[in-house]
Amino acid sequence: MASITTREDCLRFDATDSLASFRERFSLPEGIIYLDGNSLGALPKAAPERALDVIAREWGTDLITSWNTNDWFDLPVRIGAKLAKLVGGESGACVATDTTSINVFKALGAALDIQREDHPERRVIVSERENFPTDLYMVEGMIEFLDRGYELRLIDDELSAEQAIGDDTAVVLLTQVNYRSGRQWNLNGITELAHSRGALIIWDLCHSVGAVPIALDAAGADFAVGCTYKYLNGGPGSPAFIWVAERHAGRARQPLSGWWGHKSPFEMAVSFEPVDGARRFLTGTQPIISLATMEVGLDIALEVDEQALREKSLALTSLFIELVESRIPGHPLTLITPREHEERGSHVSFVHPEGFSVMKALIARGVIGDYREPGVLRFGVTPLYLGYADIWDAVEALRLVLENEEWNAAEFRIRGAVT
Ligand SMILES: Cc1ncc(COP(=O)(O)O)c(C=O)c1O
Repeated sequence: MASITTREDCLRFDATDSLASFRERFSLPEGIIYLDGNSLGALPKAAPERALDVIAREWGTDLITSWNTNDWFDLPVRIGAKLAKLVGGESGACVATDTTSINVFKALGAALDIQREDHPERRVIVSERENFPTDLYMVEGMIEFLDRGYELRLIDDELSAEQAIGDDTAVVLLTQVNYRSGRQWNLNGITELAHSRGALIIWDLCHSVGAVPIALDAAGADFAVGCTYKYLNGGPGSPAFIWVAERHAGRARQPLSGWWGHKSPFEMAVSFEPVDGARRFLTGTQPIISLATMEVGLDIALEVDEQALREKSLALTSLFIELVESRIPGHPLTLITPREHEERGSHVSFVHPEGFSVMKALIARGVIGDYREPGVLRFGVTPLYLGYADIWDAVEALRLVLENEEWNAAEFRIRGAVT
């Protein structure tokens, strides 16, 4: 990419950006630069209308008949098929349902169950110390609950993936793009490594779905989970998804065997018998309003050329790094995001000793990023509604916050329940 040294250069890049028109599809407040789409995506303009339709017409008028007439019953599976397409896993089974945490539990239970039959001696679950905490908590919960001598082994600075995954490993659970640093695992390479050691792999795609191209079928992945409220702009708490490779789909038994995963739920049988296909990964009655609203953002993501998206994401994250380093020297900002393109997701993180207050002061200037412990300023780059000039303006705001020590005010030290 030609180098950018002025705001005018940014405007020139914006003028020829093939994805620029997508910005019109989102509702963003005037004067705000939104760099938190990696936490909660923006509102698609068509979402309120869809929400009103599902509430006022489908629920209000059609009432309970909607399970059949408006196809509510199949919504998780129909949307799941779209998600499978997005993650390059069309041959597998996928449903939109529950939260990522719950889907981690289900995928882990199903993977351990398969391994208990194929390799009963394997008792190790490998993850990484830097994983999003809920993934580790779900593993801990599963280990305690099963009480069968499983242990959690963590990849970290002292233990590489090569060393951690061995012939005692039942399951590997990794997050493709790290929530804090934005570091990206080589999904193909690690899947191959896990399989070469006889382990199954579950990928958490929360910080990559809708942001980086994913090809689960091509990689030969076993299971995947992810959320839809970040880069897929599905809305706060919108349903997550669980994907299972075709070769496991008919066999995998998930532990939360509720009536929505039953072969014939309305026969009200006394015993559980799983239905074939993706539905067996459902548990209970689904949040129809959230599912319907989420589909609007997902449909936008399916229109996007994923290579163009990736190129713009890398161009904008690189620009952010270059501008911070060239325009704000002499401040204690430490980049923790990889410079190598293939190792980077779609957000950039810098550590600053006063990170929390710096982010609060930046938000007061209309640049919304987020903060993660310890000291991490996290800037999500969503190519669908951000341009080059936005990156310029965001870095300029950060420069003013730091150079004028705007962060050093009492109001920017107050912490809410959510940071
Ligand atoms: C990588 C990762 N996994 C899991 C989760 C938790 O998802 P949920 O709250 O839907 O359970 C998050 C939330 O941000 C995440 O970033």
